[in-house]
Parts: sequence; structure tokens; C-alpha cells
Amino acid sequence: MLEFNFNPFPVLETERLLLRRLVLSDAPVLYALRNNEDVMQYIDRPRQKDIEETELFIQKIDAIIDTNKDINWAITLKGEDRLLGTIGFYRSQPENYRSEIGYMLDSAYWRKGIMNEAIQRVIRYGFDDMKLHSIEACINPSNEASRGILLKNSFVKEGYFKENYFYNEKFSDTEVYSLLDSSK
Ligand SMILES: CC(C)(COP(=O)(O)OP(=O)(O)OC[C@H]1O[C@@H](n2cnc3c(N)ncnc32)[C@H](O)[C@@H]1OP(=O)(O)O)[C@@H](O)C(=O)NCCC(=O)NCCS
Repeated sequence: MLEFNFNPFPVLETERLLLRRLVLSDAPVLYALRNNEDVMQYIDRPRQKDIEETELFIQKIDAIIDTNKDINWAITLKGEDRLLGTIGFYRSQPENYRSEIGYMLDSAYWRKGIMNEAIQRVIRYGFDDMKLHSIEACINPSNEASRGILLKNSFVKEGYFKENYFYNEKFSDTEVYSLLDSSK
């Protein structure tokens, strides 16, 4: 079974981006992001009711990272500390060398190749450092942008689950994509 180690926290770099740990002072921007209807259109997670709830959410994430269960990063432009989005591994299954990738970006920054840069670096971290064998991504079938970025990065459609979860008083479908570590 895999044992992850996120201590010290791995700060990641790409050409334009610095992926750093979320901190409590990100709460107002993260709150705005998680309550933005464009960003959350296909992410079925309850809205946070105030910034204090977002602070608690960041503390919960911190504890998850500290106990080496999952990890996520704040996406920033190099030289500007402002959070533009998040990306990370969730619901990790160390026993299966597998984890789920998730991401979101402020809509003012869409279609500039930012998430593409971030996802490539995070995938490399997942395979090279976490030693994952596969990375999963679950999307709402209407989420063209998320499907597009996954296909661009060689993810393959693995499954389609009909009405497999219940949110906001309705059942919705899920498309599952995955990427295997081709070097193993
Ligand atoms: C999905 C998301 C992160 C993409 O971020 P982005 O920085 O705009 O994406 P990029 O500019 O890096 O685009 C990379 C590729 O993704 C695909 N893509 C991005 N936006 C797309 C869109 N609106 N429609 C179709 N394909 C799209 C394209 O293949 C693109 O490559 P190209 O520019 O060479 O055509 C962004 O749209 C977002 O935050 N959406 C809301 C949150 C969300 O749905 N997260 C995923 C939950 S599963």
C-alpha cells in the first residue's frame, strides 16, 4: 500500500504559475470562487454560507494534508500571491495507487492555458512523487471545458454512471475519465 508524504508541503512551479498551500488569508477569494455560479455550474457542492465557513474548510483541508491523506494547491501567478483557483487530489485510494483529480479556476482567467499548465505539473507530481498508478477524474457530462482539458491531457473515458448521485433534489449522471502512469 502507498504511503503519501506531504510534509514539507510541496510547492510546485510551472512556467507562469506557483502552486502553493492554501492559507487562511485565501478565505475571502476562495469563498467568492466557490460561490461563483459560472465556476460552480458543474460542481455539485453545497455553497459556503460565509467566509468563516470557508476558513473552517481551509482548516479541514490543512488537517487532511497534515495527515497525508490528500493534497491540494492554491493556483497563483508567479509574483502575485492572489489565489486564482485550486487543484488537487481528493478521495485518494492508496491501496489502489489511485487518486481523483479536481480543479477550478476563476472565470476571468479561463482559456489562457492556466489550468493546462497546472494539471500537467500536478499529474507529474502524482505519478513521480506520490507514486500513483492511475488518476481518476469525474465530471458532469455537460462540462465541456473539463472534458476538453482531460482529453487534451490523454485521459481516457472509462465509464458512465447514470443518475448515480443525488444533489439539489435531483439525480445526475457522472462521466469517469482516467490516466494510467505510462512509465510503469
Ligand atoms: C475546466 C477549467 C478548469 C479549464 O481551465 P482553463 O484554464 O480555462 O483551461 P485551459 O485554458 O488550460 O484549456 C486547456 C484545454 O481545455 C479545453 N477547454 C478549456 N475550456 C474549454 C471550453 N470552454 N470548452 C471546450 N474545451 C475547453 C481545451 O481543450 C483547452 O485546450 P485548447 O485551449 O488548446 O483548446 C475551467 O473551465 C473551470 O474552472 N471550470 C469551472 C470549474 C470546473 O468545472 N472544474 C472541473 C470540475 S470536474
